[in-house]
Amino acid sequence: MTGTSQAVQSDGGLSHDVPRHVAIIMDGNGRWATARGLPRFEGHRRGVEALRRAVRIAGDVGIDVLTVYAFSSENWKRPQSEIAELMGLLKLFVRRDLAELHRNNVRVRSIGERQTLAPDLRGLIEEAEHLTRANTKMTLVIAFNYGARDELTRAMRQLARSALSGGLDPESITDQTISSVLDAPDLPDPDLIIRTSGEQRLSNFLLWQAAYAEFVFLPVLWPDFDRAHFDEALAAYRNRERRFGGVDREEKLAAVGGAGG
Ligand code: FPP
Repeated sequence: MTGTSQAVQSDGGLSHDVPRHVAIIMDGNGRWATARGLPRFEGHRRGVEALRRAVRIAGDVGIDVLTVYAFSSENWKRPQSEIAELMGLLKLFVRRDLAELHRNNVRVRSIGERQTLAPDLRGLIEEAEHLTRANTKMTLVIAFNYGARDELTRAMRQLARSALSGGLDPESITDQTISSVLDAPDLPDPDLIIRTSGEQRLSNFLLWQAAYAEFVFLPVLWPDFDRAHFDEALAAYRNRERRFGGVDREEKLAAVGGAGG
């Protein structure tokens, strides 16, 4: 993922109606289930339904890229049974939803470490990416076995290998060089990151790409996430002024002697 969206750069950092790239930390499945006396798995299962809703809404409102944090590199610390359930849910999601995603012109991608995943799961991810590679309506990025520090570590190793083999001059490395060796270098950086469940942390998600993202934290638990919550996050985003390290709109107009100074 590289740079900021063209639209954002072209008008000097004013807010935009629709973010080009939204990333979601889908948190609170376990608490949703526990509050109802249900097993945690039921929370994850209902979480997949909320994910389906979110994909549909993102397509409706014209978001180009939706990235969801489905399994982090730290989630391996969970009980073996819960890990197996989450792996099973991803497989089920790809198997059951792939045809519909493809029909709806959605491109499916995955970021995260793949080499250590079970071969059948890796195969399914590759199949989904291959089948949908030419789709253009929206890109759904599933962050699976993903951790930003792991992504950056793998990227740094790749640059170090190129430097050692003589192909890369360390002095020529720029931030774009680093972006270009991350897991999805062709996608724009997230404009908006939503986290549900009331927690206010990034939890090792897109650390590099989130440099200028807007954050919206919602108290809703992920299985309950619906259109009203998505609309609330988009409305909050519209009200933000994005400066990308520059000055705000009023100051800029004042500096050039324009109206409103
Ligand atoms: C956080 O809830 C959620 C996750 C760790 C995984 C998110 C997974 C899904 C929405 C379903 C799986 C979808 C796919 C495509 C695999 P939590 O368990 O941390 O909740 P808690 O903080 O309340 O315990």
